Amino acid sequence: MNADFSDENGVDIGHEAVISKFKKRFNRNPDFVSIAPGRVNLIGGHVDYNSGIVLPIAVDRHTFIAGGKSDEADVLTVHSIRENESFVVDLSCPVSPTKVNWTNYVRGVVHGFLSRGIKLPGMEILIDSTIPSGSGLSSSASLEVATAGILEAVSGVVLKENEKPRLCQQAEHEFANVPCGIMDQFSVSFAKRGCMLLLDCCDESVEHVEFNHDQLALAVINSHVRHELSQGEYAIRRQRCESVSKTLGLESLRDLTWSMLEQSRGQLDDLSFLCAEHVVRENERTLNFVQYMKNSDWLQAGEMLYQSHASLREKFQVSCVELDGLVEFARELGPEGGVLGARMTGAGFGGSVIVLAEREKASNVVSKIVEDYNQIGATLARPRASGFVAEPTAGANVTRFIVG
Ligand code: GLA
Repeated sequence: MNADFSDENGVDIGHEAVISKFKKRFNRNPDFVSIAPGRVNLIGGHVDYNSGIVLPIAVDRHTFIAGGKSDEADVLTVHSIRENESFVVDLSCPVSPTKVNWTNYVRGVVHGFLSRGIKLPGMEILIDSTIPSGSGLSSSASLEVATAGILEAVSGVVLKENEKPRLCQQAEHEFANVPCGIMDQFSVSFAKRGCMLLLDCCDESVEHVEFNHDQLALAVINSHVRHELSQGEYAIRRQRCESVSKTLGLESLRDLTWSMLEQSRGQLDDLSFLCAEHVVRENERTLNFVQYMKNSDWLQAGEMLYQSHASLREKFQVSCVELDGLVEFARELGPEGGVLGARMTGAGFGGSVIVLAEREKASNVVSKIVEDYNQIGATLARPRASGFVAEPTAGANVTRFIVG
């Protein structure tokens, strides 16, 4: 027996583990392993659903799914190691969401295949993950894209390039009830190792921009806070942006400029004005950040991150005290301590902050911020923060398990 796993993408941890867990559960070898990373968004917060410009990066935490065809037609058997739960899907009937949340990401993707007329064979799949859930690292998009990968591999049907992230986004909308943009599913699908992914959500064009790995590192600090309001508030932000576009007669806020916005002040209530201001300025900041990174002007790039955080906190109003606290602890360390900039990432109201750090000092930066925050947080009965230095990794891929 030999396992043909390419490691050209630098992904190995978890492969062997998911295979042996599959064997143990289903008493056979899997045919394929599908892998998808988590992601953080460096800058471009809450602009993807406004056809804006975002800069995500895939990080070295992954969903692993081992799977293979089974003898039982029309039955998909799914087991999750993290949830320690199994469920089955009848592939001969329309699939609907259930009350068991985590299963809906898988069900939604299966529904996407079936509703496109794709015939899926009976199969068994086992899911494992190293992405902390609820941390703002997009564990859900990663699960969706890894599921799409295993369904493609086992059925032999390959979706057209951009169809896969779109199908996964649709699963999130219809089965998880989150009206997300396209950023997460795109970055998880198409990221390149060592690169940031500059995505224009208007025409879905992508530029891979090198992350200067020799000098820089990205620290991810998880607040372990998850506010109940996050999902409802996300939908409210999206609606608010859409209603501003409608009021101003635009297709999306991407078409809005600062001078147009100033002239429309009288037509908008205060909150709507601030939201629109965030979107206009955030698109500019993303492009500026990329330029500063290309010019190796790390301090100016870091300044864009601080400004983005301040705008998400004050104008778009999606931060929370824990994220603000973590950003402040990072700022206090400053360039002497190896910190170049910091901001919240993901939808907000909890989850993680990212810190752009000097590579040599990055591990210290993580321990110092976590230590400082936890010392104060402990007295306020907040969850303890934790962090790691993330490596920019490749997007989703599937490997075939050859038995010979
Ligand atoms: C979540 C959504 C994304 C994006 C971010 C905010 O992660 O899934 O589509 O809107 O929030 O930038």
